[in-house]
Amino acid sequence: MEQYIVKGGNPLVGEVEIGGAKNAALGILAASVMTSEPVTIENLPDVRDTAVLIQAMESIGTKVERIDRHTVRVNASSINSMTIDDGYIKKIRASYYMLGSLLGRFRSAQVALPGGCNIGSRPIDQHLKGFRALGAKVEVSRGMISAETEALVGNHIYMDVVTVGATINVMLAATLAVGKTIIENAAKEPHVVDVANFLNSMGANIKGAGTDVIRIKGVEKLHGTTYSIIPDQIEAGTFMFAAAITKGDVMIRNVIPKHLESISAKLIEIGCEIEEFDDCLRVVAARRLSNTQVKTLPYPGFPTDMQPQIATTLALSEGISIVTESIFENRFKYVGELLRMGANIKVEGNTAIIEGVEGFTGAMISAPDLRAGAALVLAALVADGFTTIDDIKYIERGYEDFPEKMRQLGANIEKVETDRDIQKFKLKVG
Ligand code: EPZ
Repeated sequence: MEQYIVKGGNPLVGEVEIGGAKNAALGILAASVMTSEPVTIENLPDVRDTAVLIQAMESIGTKVERIDRHTVRVNASSINSMTIDDGYIKKIRASYYMLGSLLGRFRSAQVALPGGCNIGSRPIDQHLKGFRALGAKVEVSRGMISAETEALVGNHIYMDVVTVGATINVMLAATLAVGKTIIENAAKEPHVVDVANFLNSMGANIKGAGTDVIRIKGVEKLHGTTYSIIPDQIEAGTFMFAAAITKGDVMIRNVIPKHLESISAKLIEIGCEIEEFDDCLRVVAARRLSNTQVKTLPYPGFPTDMQPQIATTLALSEGISIVTESIFENRFKYVGELLRMGANIKVEGNTAIIEGVEGFTGAMISAPDLRAGAALVLAALVADGFTTIDDIKYIERGYEDFPEKMRQLGANIEKVETDRDIQKFKLKVG
């Protein structure tokens, strides 16, 4: 079984390069099948979720050529099916973006109901409501969602909740609808803006992405493009907290500091120093950090995808901290693992009450989902002794070369498979 083994204690020091945004990449890959002309996507993160989506795109006849590790050329001129029922696709959330893109281009799509990290009930009612508002007949049966129409027509759509997925999905379909669509109460996340910019580079007419009203004038067809994906806000944020929790000094390269403002603000509040440059940030933590209160919110609020990382850091900070999760109801599953490492955290409903402890001790733990898994690695980096982390498949969904990047900053971490590998690691690091 693949695991990470970590020997805690080293402050992280040095430079790390952030890759392309996974959640933008998933929307952009899905959007790339909306033209029959070739599309080149650069700065694509090489993570499991993008690999699975590419596989799904290939399963319906899309040709995806890897130019290099982070560049693909997509040719969707010979799509021969509008049905995605690949076994793998159920494992990722973003499979549902193929509904929006195929419905837009072909007026018909059938996609297996999405899976993804188990962080809550994750309804898709707003996606379906949006497609129906555009005139599609939408049905959910036998684990498949199907959407079909003869004419996709623009409409005025009010999202009942702020949702990244439904905003992107409806935007995809509306791009090729007849007439004007207005999405109100739209999500404003950087990856929503990136997908809109990508579509505009293909000839779409989308305005207002990044605000809560997105206006789309449908166009007849889209053309090929070459596009580079924005840096990953959450990967960057995770390394910022890795610097903070280990009392390190890390230069985080290839980021958009504006996207990281809510994260930087919290780090400064708890005692870190942050230096901001054009496309990098330096995070320095010279002393024990202090407590705070934080509530996850849609962008520009503090991201739910950073909640486990901040909670883990606060579990070692001085005083009592309160972390409130307002987006997903089941995102504290890692707390049990932190308790086994010596944390003092009580979860009541969607709130974690954290009493900072002096240190963690190494343990055998499991990653319950992607971001929680990353947070547990952070805990292991500072724990006394060895920690093994199981179920790293979750972490690999969204972090490219996670142990390698941590190692480059001085962490003692390795991906291992056998007891022999573990013994070898222990001998090596002493
Ligand atoms: C996206 O999930 C991300 N995934 C998540 O990242 C991220 O945590 C989340 O946005 C919030 O930022 C991808 O981009 C692939 P939502 P998504 O729709 O689109 C409710 C990670 O770790 N809702 O913005 O599924 C929903 O239950 C992952 O990288 C409805 O009620 O999230 C939640 O409470 C995990 N009805 C809230 O909206 C709907 O139809 C926000 O969900 C859709 C959502």
